[in-house]
Amino acid sequence: MEEDKSITAYYGQRAHEYERIYFREIPDRRRQIDEEADRVRELTKDKTILELACGTGYWTQIASENAKSILTSDISAEMIAEARKKEYHCPVEFVLADLYRLPFPKHSFDLILLGFWFSHEPKSGYDRLFNTLSSLVRIGGQIWMIDNNPPAEGANVDSVGTDEGGNNLKKRQLSNGKEFVIIKNYFSPELLRSILSDAFTIERLNFGSYYWSVVLTPKTAKTQ
Ligand SMILES: C[S@@+](CC[C@H](N)C(=O)[O-])C[C@H]1O[C@@H](n2cnc3c(N)ncnc32)[C@H](O)[C@@H]1O
Repeated sequence: MEEDKSITAYYGQRAHEYERIYFREIPDRRRQIDEEADRVRELTKDKTILELACGTGYWTQIASENAKSILTSDISAEMIAEARKKEYHCPVEFVLADLYRLPFPKHSFDLILLGFWFSHEPKSGYDRLFNTLSSLVRIGGQIWMIDNNPPAEGANVDSVGTDEGGNNLKKRQLSNGKEFVIIKNYFSPELLRSILSDAFTIERLNFGSYYWSVVLTPKTAKTQ
C-alpha cells in the first residue's frame, strides 16, 4: 500500500498546534475525554505497551501513570519532538516509524494503544492494520483505540466527497491557512462491530456523542 503522503504532511505540519483538540472548552466533550483517560489508566496498569501514531504523546502521558513501560512511535519527527517535551511516569522509548513498517518483535506487548488513527485508515487497509495489531500484541493481550464522532470536530466539518475506495474526505486547514484533504471516516456502533468482529473479540465498546473507544483481543494469533 502506498503511504498517504498528504496525511503524513498534514500531521507533521500540525504537530505544534495539534494538542489544542484536547482543550476546546466544551464541558461535555472534555468530560468524555477525561472519562476515557480514567479507563486508560485502569487498562494500562503494570502493562508493557506499544503505542502507534502517538502524536504529541497525550495518551502516552496518561498511560505512563500506571504502565510498566511504553514504546511509543509515530511517522512524524515533528510529533515525536512534541511528545518528547512531556514528562512521563514510567520508562518511555520513542521510535520514529511508519506503523506499517514496524521494527518491533512479534507478540511482545501486553497492550497496543492507537488513538485517533482508525478514522484516517483507508477501508482497503483494515485487514493489513488488523494483522499488524494482532501480530504485535502478545497472545491474550489487548488493543485500545479511540476516535471521534462528528460533533467532536467543531466547526471544521466540511466533507469534500469520497475517494474511489469509499472513504470520506475532509478539508482541514492549519492556523497558517494551509489546506489539506484527508481521509476521515465515521462509524456507528453497528458498523464498528461489523468491521472489527471478524478479527477481534470486542471486550468493550463505549460510544459517546463525541468519541468512541474499544478494547479488543485478537481472535487468532498471527505469526507472519
Ligand atoms: C490524529 S493524530 C493522533 C495522535 C495521537 N495518537 C492522539 O491520539 O492524540 C494521527 C497521528 O498519526 C501519525 N501518522 C500518520 N501516518 C502515520 C503512519 N503511516 N504511521 C505512523 N503514524 C502515522 C501522525 O503523524 C499523527 O501523529
